[in-house]
Amino acid sequence: MATVTSIADALQQRLAQAISTAFPDAAEGDPQLRRSDRADFQANGIMSLAKPLRANPREVAARVLEHLAADDVIANLEISGPGFINVTVTDTAILERLAARAVDTRLGVHSTAEPGVTVIDYSQPNIAKEMHVGHLRSTIIGDALVRTLEFAGEKVIRRNHLGDWGTQFGMLIQYLIEHPDELGDDTEGTDTGPSMSRLNRLYKASRAKFDSDTDFADRSRRRVVELQAGDADTVTSWQGMVDESKIYFEAVYARLGVLLEDTDAVGESYYNPMLADVCADLEASGVAVRSDGALCVFFDDIKGPDGEPTPLIVQKSDGGYGYATTDLAAIRDRVGMLGANQLLYIVDARQALHFQMVFETARRAGWLPEDVRALHLGFGTVLGKDGKPFKTRSGETVRLMDLLDEAVGRARIVVSEKSPQLAAEELEDRAKQVGIGAVKYADLSTSRTRDYVFDADRMVSLNGDTGTYLQYAYARIQSILRKAPAGVLPAAHQDLALEPAERALGLLLDEFGATINQVTGTFEPHRLCAYLHNLASAYAAFYEHCPVLKASTREITETRLLLCQLTGQTLRQGMDLLGIGAPEQL
Ligand code: ARG
Repeated sequence: MATVTSIADALQQRLAQAISTAFPDAAEGDPQLRRSDRADFQANGIMSLAKPLRANPREVAARVLEHLAADDVIANLEISGPGFINVTVTDTAILERLAARAVDTRLGVHSTAEPGVTVIDYSQPNIAKEMHVGHLRSTIIGDALVRTLEFAGEKVIRRNHLGDWGTQFGMLIQYLIEHPDELGDDTEGTDTGPSMSRLNRLYKASRAKFDSDTDFADRSRRRVVELQAGDADTVTSWQGMVDESKIYFEAVYARLGVLLEDTDAVGESYYNPMLADVCADLEASGVAVRSDGALCVFFDDIKGPDGEPTPLIVQKSDGGYGYATTDLAAIRDRVGMLGANQLLYIVDARQALHFQMVFETARRAGWLPEDVRALHLGFGTVLGKDGKPFKTRSGETVRLMDLLDEAVGRARIVVSEKSPQLAAEELEDRAKQVGIGAVKYADLSTSRTRDYVFDADRMVSLNGDTGTYLQYAYARIQSILRKAPAGVLPAAHQDLALEPAERALGLLLDEFGATINQVTGTFEPHRLCAYLHNLASAYAAFYEHCPVLKASTREITETRLLLCQLTGQTLRQGMDLLGIGAPEQL
């Protein structure tokens, strides 16, 4: 299927051409086309064109218009205000595009840009620890970006950078060896999946002992050395914890319906064999220097509160490696071995300084060449209804499964009110799609860097800025399509004059591809959320003003059915890119 040139792109080309014909020497040739409520589009670029020419913008606009005429896309052109050009487009241009998009599984959106290789680092929970809302955000945002980048044609490699290595494992393993009964049979798994509580308990108990018992702390430190040296029993014990944690993570991923697979889980331990080499290279090249026994990288502009430079420590004075060294090894691996030309990290905004230092070090070391982009895509904190970082009443971080259960529970109420006759299994299935979709939409619709409040009731509202609203719109569209009489099929009758609500909806449907480009250009899924919400609202306005099955002629009914169909397809495709399910009925 061929790419459908959107109306905005077609106008952009025509206006840019007219500008360069009228003013061949102009430095600024961008028509700056925007949607407008005065006409369909407005070109604001004449102002910046006129300025260096010291000309009257209205006269400049008139000169540009000499090279433009009504055609298959342009219905009318008009100079307005101080020198804007207002453009009205033809109904045919809208109808043609609706028809072309509706018959293409990609809705006429095809990538033209040269695709690259993106490695995306997301989810990243820690072994033997409960996943928290921060990991939820990373998982949801990462999943949406993976789906959207892949749709745009990018080759995407997923990396779940599990926290599966480090000194805390000495303490955990040592405790387990001294208390072998701590990891018994899992009797605490719930119907939503295995429980992490035993590992959690182990973590707390060993931490407490580590902090209070210096002999135990010493034994734990020796245990780390054994782990790093590959001592068989120690490694087996470590592997047991990793495996058990992964069962739990995978249950969360399955419940969320994200794309992450076991092969994507390439945790910190994977890079362990490379760390000595990374440090040796950094020291040999002079990028890192010894300071009080530790191997450090210094930065002119990074200082602590005391005014002293804050280094990135790549090797501690006791010889141990940390989080930063692993990330450096990962960059070397992702660029050198995986051939990435873009590295994305979906990690809490509070880790910004860490990534700034890691990227800068990798650049100096030559592991991150200039043509490879590395971006830390930070995100804000999830807050409770009290506006404070999410905690249970007892002050503990909230279990992720509990949050998901809560959302699905609220969704079950909404669905059973809408469809009281549903069989239990069907109800469960829809409640899950609605509840999980609601959690994802609430997360993705907030601008990534901002904090947001987790409010399960609000999330599943049928008429707010919610995923449920999108799902409801989609389901209503499907029901109309099902009700169309036999033989009456969606079709664009090109000679019809469109109503304002039809034009508004049609023009919005034509913006889907541009929206995808915005998301892949900014890594901000909230732009797609906003688009889909606008689309569902424009559909509601259309549905209110334009009867579909009871329209006065068959041509009108068929054309409106086409609008319904393409709106449904676009909503479903858009929701799919966000990882949100689209049930046929609610
Ligand atoms: N496991 C870390 C945490 O829970 C996040 C890891 C982020 N990714 C990375 N490549 N450093 O905070």
